Amino acid sequence: MNATDQPLPPNDPPPWSILVEAIESLSAARTLERIIEIVRIAARDISGADGVTFVLRDGDLCHYVDENAISPLWKGQKFPMSACISGWAMLNKRTAVIPDIYVDPRIPQDAYRPTFVKSLIMAPVRVEDPLAAIGAYWADHHLPNAHETALLESLARATAISLANVSLESSLRAATAQAVTQAEEIRTAYAEVKREAMQRQQTEEQLRQSQKMEAIGQLTGGMAHDFNNLLSVIIGNLDLLLTEKENDPTTRELAGHALEAALRGADLIRRLLAFARRQPLQPRRVDVNELVRKLATLMQRMLGEHIKVELDLSSDVWTVIVDPAQLETSLANLATNARDAMPQGGRLRIATANRYLDEDYAARHAEVIAGDYAMIEVTDTGMGIPGHLIGRIFEPFFTTKAQDKGTGLGLSMVFGFIKQSGGHINVYSEEGVGTTFRLYVPRALDEAQEPVAVPEKNAAIGKGEVVLIAEDNAEVRRVAAMQLTSLGYRVLEAGDVSTAIRALENNHVDLLLTDIIMPGGRSGYDLAHAALARWPALRIVLTSGFPDAMGKDGPALAKLPMLNKPYRKDDLARALRLALDGPPPDQAP
Ligand SMILES: Nc1ncnc2c1ncn2[C@@H]1O[C@H](COP(=O)(O)OP(=O)(O)OP(=O)(O)O)[C@@H](O)[C@H]1O
Ligand SMILES: [Mg+2]
Repeated sequence: MNATDQPLPPNDPPPWSILVEAIESLSAARTLERIIEIVRIAARDISGADGVTFVLRDGDLCHYVDENAISPLWKGQKFPMSACISGWAMLNKRTAVIPDIYVDPRIPQDAYRPTFVKSLIMAPVRVEDPLAAIGAYWADHHLPNAHETALLESLARATAISLANVSLESSLRAATAQAVTQAEEIRTAYAEVKREAMQRQQTEEQLRQSQKMEAIGQLTGGMAHDFNNLLSVIIGNLDLLLTEKENDPTTRELAGHALEAALRGADLIRRLLAFARRQPLQPRRVDVNELVRKLATLMQRMLGEHIKVELDLSSDVWTVIVDPAQLETSLANLATNARDAMPQGGRLRIATANRYLDEDYAARHAEVIAGDYAMIEVTDTGMGIPGHLIGRIFEPFFTTKAQDKGTGLGLSMVFGFIKQSGGHINVYSEEGVGTTFRLYVPRALDEAQEPVAVPEKNAAIGKGEVVLIAEDNAEVRRVAAMQLTSLGYRVLEAGDVSTAIRALENNHVDLLLTDIIMPGGRSGYDLAHAALARWPALRIVLTSGFPDAMGKDGPALAKLPMLNKPYRKDDLARALRLALDGPPPDQAP
């Protein structure tokens, strides 16, 4: 057995070895609690003292946070910096070595009297700017040697580094947590921005789509109007030809074909006008459920047995004001499309419900006004519409059907009609699953009132004829003149009978619109009399605010048309058109 094989004698590890171990542990410590724990054990082992304390600086106080001693010292207590030895060590940035506490003036002896302490060393932690101190205490008079002091100071230095690490780490942790929060905030903000951008894009797309439809509508509307005039001439002449050459079989056949084609053209134009929102409508108060119920029977017959028509009508659906015939045609168009999408059969479901389209929805859909709507939903279990085509299905002439199968005007008509009725239409479709169309028709507001049929636009418009207004009330005259100008008439004005006669003498006038009660002793009747005597072809319309203003000349002029005040522009337009297009007054029946 040689010397190296000899076991080392059992012995306490030397202080420097304990110090090295403590430094290792401190370098791994991640919390203040752990540092205190290490120090309170190591400090006592290294120094061989009867007690140690760990003191933290807390502003102007020394906080005796922990201790390890033969009997209690000051654990948990705080003392002013100026009144304790740890305060002295920290303030003076050096270690205090006190062999006999009872002769040292720096020691508050009252605080020490109850304790075992007779001598001590107090080493500051982080000498350049102390933030803690480590104290070692002996129960007898002990003059710590330089070796012991150096060991304790080394432990204090390692503690300072460890404390710095912990604070660095905790501030790092705080910074990391902050960075994570910020990243989270940025992510949320980014998601919000992205969502907004998408919504804006959607709204813009909607707007672009509706502008496109509007443009196509204007174009087709304008064209349809011109074509209608051409077709009127063609159809009119063909009619004449057919009556005149009734007995010529060749003419009959050829003109018959031509007429058929022209009538088909007229039908096409009618549908284009519907798309352009310019078809004459006859809105009436309509019970949507009743209309759908009646139509469903017809539909079932039209669609055939392989398609099952189902109804899901919610009770109390709001009444709407809409052209019932056109609504039926629209639903029939949707049903026909559904049938074509389900060649192998399937289900067609029509549901009704009340819906409130809110401001948010209105903001996202061009032309939609927020409010109450009766909704009619038509769903099929057909092939669906591919995503890239769905934006085009309402365009006129867009069809995926064979040339002789579809014109591509069915949905255009529905679209134009619903829009013209103040409503809204949308579509949801999934390929291979089916398609849902929803028609929203505005709820009728005034439950009591039946709407008046809207007169066909453009029907009573002037053609540049000259109208003389004889009216003493300048304001009434001005309004009438404006209405007439906007209706397409040329207007002359007179405030009394003699001015009116002068105007008739100096101008060509097609129609005289005269008030009955006039100033200066001469009435509108007098004016009409005088005018007719000299210009028998002149058309005359009388106006009056008094239903019984017939006066003495009444009977003689009874056959002249009378427009009661207050009248609306449409009334004026109709009265003038009737008078201008009818026979002169003297030939009137
Ligand atoms: N329910 C539906 N399922 C699947 N596709 C549909 C449906 N409704 C419409 N479509 C598609 O929209 C296109 C346009 O429909 P629209 O009714 O306007 O014209 P069409 O049916 O082709 O012809 P028309 O109605 O003039 O006879 C159709 O060709 C079809 O591709
Ligand atoms: Mg169709």
